[in-house]
Amino acid sequence: MENGYYKAINWNQVSDEIDKATWEKLTEQFWLDTRIPVSNDMDDWRTLDDDHKWVVGHVFGGLTLLDTLQSQDGMAALRRDVRTPHETAVLNNIQFMESVHAKSYSTIFETLNTPDEIDEIFDWSDSEDLLQNKAKRIYTLYHDDGNPLKKKISSVFLETFLFYSGFYTPLYYLGHNKLNNVAEIIKLILRDESVHGTYIGYKFQLAMKDLTDNQQQELKDWMYDFLYYLYDNEEKYTHLVYDRVGWADDVLKFIRYNANKALMNLGQEPLFPEGAEDVNPVVMNGISTSTSNHDFFSQVGNGYRLGNVEAMDDNDYKI
Ligand SMILES: [Fe+2]
Ligand SMILES: [Fe+2]
Repeated sequence: MENGYYKAINWNQVSDEIDKATWEKLTEQFWLDTRIPVSNDMDDWRTLDDDHKWVVGHVFGGLTLLDTLQSQDGMAALRRDVRTPHETAVLNNIQFMESVHAKSYSTIFETLNTPDEIDEIFDWSDSEDLLQNKAKRIYTLYHDDGNPLKKKISSVFLETFLFYSGFYTPLYYLGHNKLNNVAEIIKLILRDESVHGTYIGYKFQLAMKDLTDNQQQELKDWMYDFLYYLYDNEEKYTHLVYDRVGWADDVLKFIRYNANKALMNLGQEPLFPEGAEDVNPVVMNGISTSTSNHDFFSQVGNGYRLGNVEAMDDNDYKI
């Protein structure tokens, strides 16, 4: 409401061009989980032993929880602090895609796991302390309307840092040319998250400029403390999930590298010494070899083009 009147959104008067560019980018790279043929990965899946299957199932359980948090609380929280009506529209788009992300893990489970295994994975993600710690801490920040910048920091840390302990597994298999369709879903998610993290980080940097020097310093101190807290929890979580396959140290390098990227999205200096050259090259290969592309202003990946999608007809509505 403005001066007692409700305002219609006008896309021919856009005060922040980044809103428009992000809207175009996100709508261009729209995708759905149901279009990826995950069942083609069954032969690869059968070659994995029980421990490696456990890791795949449970990292996706963890990712489901975090994407649920983004779709149910995160974007609604950020939408209360927008600077422009177009930002609201972008956040609406992001919120729906977070629901697609959260659902897509269920599409993977449905193909790879038995009903009992799926129940066990959800019981685990709904109760595992190290996973719940991060979800609850961020949930609390999302519901604290007195701190709009802390909400943005939480969202960027979640998407550019906390997701990567889970993303490691499908990228590792993709680098070994295994579970390619599962990995394609993850890469589509990663491509979205990359835009979300950049966009929300950008809005954070705009809001940061409105603060006094003292307020900025105070917020920076809080940000690095929060990152240490999350990293400490993430280190324990990584051991909990990965010790059974001996990958924990390698995963930790990867998440430190991504923690630095999260700080960069927020306009801050990196904290950890890790650069791209320190990450397992198989995983970096997994990021770069697939058809999808996760750079912000790049084109839609070859692996999924809107043009390949069949239009719906009346038969689609006969259930
Ligand atoms: Fe997501
Ligand atoms: Fe996201």
